[in-house]
Amino acid sequence: MSSPSVVEAAPTRPNPPGPRGLPVLGSALQMGGRDVLSNYMELQREYGDIVFVKLGPLNGYILASPDYVHHVLVKNQKNYIKGIGYDGLRLLVGQGVLTSDGEVWRQQRRLMQPPFTPTAITQFAGMMIEITQRLLDRWEPYAERGEVLSMDAEMLHLTMSIIGRAMFSIDLGEESKEVGAAFEEAFGFIPSRNGMALPLALPLPAHRRFQGNLDVINQFVEERIAEGRRNPTQDNLLSLLLRARDEETGQALSTTDLRDEVVTLFFAGFETTARSLTWGWYLLAKHPEVQARLAAEADRVLQGRAPTIDDLFQLNYTRQVVDETLRLYPPTALLARQNVEADEIGGYAIPPKSMIILVPYLVHRYPGMWPDPERFDPERFTPQASEARSKTAYIPFASGPRVCLGNNFALLEMVYAMSMAAGRYQLEMAEDEEIPFELVGTMRPTKPLRVKVQRK
Ligand code: HEM
Repeated sequence: MSSPSVVEAAPTRPNPPGPRGLPVLGSALQMGGRDVLSNYMELQREYGDIVFVKLGPLNGYILASPDYVHHVLVKNQKNYIKGIGYDGLRLLVGQGVLTSDGEVWRQQRRLMQPPFTPTAITQFAGMMIEITQRLLDRWEPYAERGEVLSMDAEMLHLTMSIIGRAMFSIDLGEESKEVGAAFEEAFGFIPSRNGMALPLALPLPAHRRFQGNLDVINQFVEERIAEGRRNPTQDNLLSLLLRARDEETGQALSTTDLRDEVVTLFFAGFETTARSLTWGWYLLAKHPEVQARLAAEADRVLQGRAPTIDDLFQLNYTRQVVDETLRLYPPTALLARQNVEADEIGGYAIPPKSMIILVPYLVHRYPGMWPDPERFDPERFTPQASEARSKTAYIPFASGPRVCLGNNFALLEMVYAMSMAAGRYQLEMAEDEEIPFELVGTMRPTKPLRVKVQRK
């Protein structure tokens, strides 16, 4: 018979608390869907920073605290892979740098890093400014006639044009609307591919539509690759991938590898940035005093001209607005991992191959780190305030080795767009309404953001 002291000295506690769930399915149904973030917030309130959920046959752990998430993404990252949580996405992006693991990922990341360093991305600044300027010119007649613009569509158009130019030196927003629409629709389909999804081979209408979109995307990307091979002197991200050689074998990327990386960059870079900008405008329209300060900074720094790369370091308040937008609306509000070996988090034993759900949305509202967390307040990101807070509390681009490859690219794009637009127009919502979010892959507005622009 074991003595009481041995029982007490058990190394870890049993499963963390969590909802009971249904037989067989467990809580799998509550862990998906558009309201999932509100569900997670409720679970955190009820059970704490680590919540146990049964997801069919899998053990799931929802992590809501900066420390626990940091443990997975940084401290013990070697024990965590992307795993089955990314199977749905693999249908679209294949085995690119976003979905791969281990040595394959390390090699891909090494290969793709060079154009995304803070210095290297400045080569894209001129192109971003030109495309943004063109978008703002298009708003002119709307301003004159007092017509309403749909900011969602405008921002998707902007980021699609920018990533298209960076990848292939062509303007997808203008020239290839069909491909743009195929990308957008295919992204929207992925979140439905959770563990409970029916096999894609079943000829359901949604499956057929996805396949059709995939065909459009594949044909377009393959044509671009063929053209890039014919014209190797082009200067864009695709040509860089075409020129890349494995350090050890000297081998070039296969057409399939190239296709996967190209679609990955699109997937990762286009919608995330567009949604963030849309939420930014929503917050600015709701907070005219912040918008006025942003506009004053644009007037002072840019004085009516197009920005330069040096201006970037003067647009500090704009950057604070961007940072605060990404805190409240982190486009990738959920991340998933699987642990290879057993681990321990918060004193609880985590068996191998569990499903670990990391929730930046909750980390960005973590009690104690973020007073009055739902309030939009760019002052949270003054250098002093940021310095005083643990870096682990702010992870819109994740952290550790798998941190977003395009974070500097996205920030550059967003700071330019916000400052240039605020310098030229004043924005207000066409209807004074609240726009709730839903999680469909990214945090999307549930209705269009309709705004009126006025020439300043
Ligand atoms: C506001 C815009 C963006 C946000 C919030 C964002 C956020 C993220 C997050 C959270 C991850 C980690 C995903 C995970 O661990 O599962 C990630 C990965 C990634 N992002 Fe972004 N991203 C943005 C824009 C971009 C852009 C513009 C690009 C490229 C042009 C890009 C390329 C990538 C790539 C390639 C990865 C995979 C990195 C790896 O696993 O090594 N992202 N992003």
